[in-house]
Amino acid sequence: MASNDESTIEARLAEQEYFRPPTKFVGQANVSDPAVYDRFAEFPAGFEEYADLLDWDAHWDELLDDSNPPFYEWFVGGELNASYNCVDRHLDDGKNRTALRWEGEDGEQRNLSYQDLYREVNAMAAALRDVGVDEGDVVTIHLPMVPALPITMLACARLGAPHSVVFAGFSANALAERVDSADSEYVVTIDGYYRRGDFLPHIEKADEALREAAGDPQVLAWTRHEEPHDSVAVSDDYTMVADLLDEHAGERVAPVSRDAEDPLFLMYTSGTTGQPKGCQHRTGGYLAYAAGTSKYVLDIKPEDTYWCSADIGWITGHSYIVYGPLALGTTSVMYEGTPDHPHRSRMWEIAERYDVDVFHTSPTAVRMFMKWGAEHLEGYDFDFRHLTTVGEPIQPEAWLWYYEHVGGEDAVIVDTWWQTETGGHLITNLPALDDMKPGSAGRPAPGIEPAILDDEGEPVDPESGEAGNLVITRPWPGMLQTVYGDDERFIEEYWERFSDTDSDDPDDWIYEAGDGAVQGPDGYYRVLGRLDDVMNVAGHRLGTMELESAVSEVEAVAEAAVAAREDSEKGEVPDVYVVLRTGVEESESVREDIVTAIEEEIGKFARPNEVAFVGDLPKTRSGKIMRRLLEDISNDAELGDTTTLRDPSVPEQIREQVGAD
Ligand code: PRX
Repeated sequence: MASNDESTIEARLAEQEYFRPPTKFVGQANVSDPAVYDRFAEFPAGFEEYADLLDWDAHWDELLDDSNPPFYEWFVGGELNASYNCVDRHLDDGKNRTALRWEGEDGEQRNLSYQDLYREVNAMAAALRDVGVDEGDVVTIHLPMVPALPITMLACARLGAPHSVVFAGFSANALAERVDSADSEYVVTIDGYYRRGDFLPHIEKADEALREAAGDPQVLAWTRHEEPHDSVAVSDDYTMVADLLDEHAGERVAPVSRDAEDPLFLMYTSGTTGQPKGCQHRTGGYLAYAAGTSKYVLDIKPEDTYWCSADIGWITGHSYIVYGPLALGTTSVMYEGTPDHPHRSRMWEIAERYDVDVFHTSPTAVRMFMKWGAEHLEGYDFDFRHLTTVGEPIQPEAWLWYYEHVGGEDAVIVDTWWQTETGGHLITNLPALDDMKPGSAGRPAPGIEPAILDDEGEPVDPESGEAGNLVITRPWPGMLQTVYGDDERFIEEYWERFSDTDSDDPDDWIYEAGDGAVQGPDGYYRVLGRLDDVMNVAGHRLGTMELESAVSEVEAVAEAAVAAREDSEKGEVPDVYVVLRTGVEESESVREDIVTAIEEEIGKFARPNEVAFVGDLPKTRSGKIMRRLLEDISNDAELGDTTTLRDPSVPEQIREQVGAD
C-alpha cells in the first residue's frame, strides 16, 4: 500500500531524464503518427478503431449506450466470437504460422501452428459440449502454464461459455470459493506440472476443493504427459480430457455468435473485503480493447515472436498472452516454469532460442534479474525491440537496469498501468510517440481520461505533482461489466466514493482505481500504489482482509491484522500481527499454524514475511484497526497520527515487542 507522505513522493519524483525511442523502433512502429490521440479524443467514436481490428458476425448499431451508468454497454447489437477471432480467421493467410511456442520446464518443446490450435480448440470445444457445457455456463479452469490452458479458454469462448480461470498457485480452498461464487458446474484441471524440477500433484487441489465446495461440479482432467503421471492418482469420478479428445478428434464446432455484451470471462481478484470479486468482462468491448492495445502499445505484428512471462491465471495473461496477441495473429512464447530453473539464464536462453522481439515482464522479475547479476545474460544472443513492465511501480534503478542489460539501450521500455478490472492498459505511453521516463507510466492511453482527486473528491491541480486518488472519468470498452452476480458491490467498490449515484448522467460517474498517483508537469502519471487494503506482492494482488480472515481461522488467534512491508525484491510482503487468545503461549507451532492457514486458504505465494505476536492492536475509539500504523512499524517509518487511538501507547508497545522478537 502506498505511502503518500511528502518525503516519499518527493524522493520518487526526483527528476529523471527522458529517453527517446530508438529511431529504428519508430520507423517500424504500428503507431507513429500523433494524430492517433486526436482521433481518440472523439469520444467514444475513437474506440471504433479497436473494434475494426476484429471480425464481427453482425455490426453494432450503437458504439456506446451510456444511458444507465455505470452499466455501460459497448458495441450494442454487435455479434462476434472470440475464439473465431483468435484462431479461425488467421487460417486463410497464416495457417502454418506458429501461434504458440511452448516450452516445458523439463525442456519439452511444443509448437502449435494456427491450424494446430484450430484443431485442438475444436476438439476441446466438442469435448466440453459432450459433457454438457452450454452457452452461458461458467467453466472454472485451474490449469498451470501448459497449452491446455489457452486451448480450454478458447474452447469455452467458442461455445460461448464464460471461463473463470483460477491461478494454479491458488489453494484448494480458494478454488472451491471461486467455483461456488460463480455457480460453476465444471472444473478443468490437470494431473500435475513442473516447478523447479518437481512434479507438483496439482490435481490434489481439485480433489480437496470438491470436498470443500458447496456445489458438485464435474471435473475434467488433462494430463501433463500422454499418460497420467505415476506419482498422481486421478479420481475415477473425473473425466479424462485425453479420452474425450480421442473421441472428438477432427470434429468441428461452429463458433457461437455472441452478443457483444455477453460475458467472455470472469476473473476473481482481491478487494477490500474477505471475498474476492468476480470481475465480469464482456466479449466485444474487452476483445476490441485487448487487441487494440496489443497493437498500439505492445506494437505486436503477426510476424513477431512475442513473449509475456506472466501467468495466464492473472489478467495480464488473459489480455496479453491469449486474447490480444492471438487476435492479432502473432506467435507467442509460453513457458511453464520458473526463471531460475535449471539455471538463472533460463529466460535468456528461451529468448535466444525463439528470437523473441517483444518481451513483457514485471518489475519484480526485473529486480530479481538485477539481483542475480548481469553476468547471467552474457553470451545469449537475444535482441528485443520492445520491453514492457506491468503490475507494480518500477523504480528508476530497476528501469535503467532493464534498459541497459535486457534492452541493450536499443529497445523501448513501456510501463503499463492497468488492473484486472480495466481489461487492458489505461496509462502508458505509445512507444514511438512519447519519450520514456523511468518510473512513470506516462500518458493516458488513447481515449482514456484519468484524473487525480483529493479525498473530498476535488481535482488536485493538473500537472502539479500533488498526490491523490487516481480515477477514470469516462468509460472505455475494456472495463469490467460488473462484479459477477452483485451489481451493488460493483457500484460500492468502484463508483460510490466519487460519483453521484443518483444521477443517470455519465459525467457524474467516476471510476475509482484504488491507487494513489501524481501527475508531473510534463503530464506524465506516476502511479504510487494502492491506497486501500490491497497489497501487491511480487505483482500479485492480495487483500489484507483475505489474509486476516485466513489467520483468524487458527484457534489460538484472538485477533489479527496484516500490514504491507516494503521489500526490495517483491515490492511488498505481508507482515501479520497477531493477538493470541488468553492463556495461549506464543510458540513456533502457533506461528506455523498461521502460515499454514494462509497457504491453505489462499496459496503458498501469499506466505507472510513475518508473524509477530503482540499484546494489542492499534485501534480507534470505535474499534477500527489502524493498519497504517502497523505499516509504519513494519517499515521502520515514523509513526503517523496516534491521537485517534483508544490507547495511543499501543504502537510503541508493538514496536518494542517486535524489536525484542
Ligand atoms: O496498484 C496497481 C498495480 O497493480 C494493481 C492492479 O493489480 P491487478 O488487478 O492484479 O492487475 C495487475 C496487472 C494489470 C493496480 O491497482 N499496478 C499495475 N500496473 C502498474 C501498477 N502500479 C504501478 N505501475 C504500473 N505500471
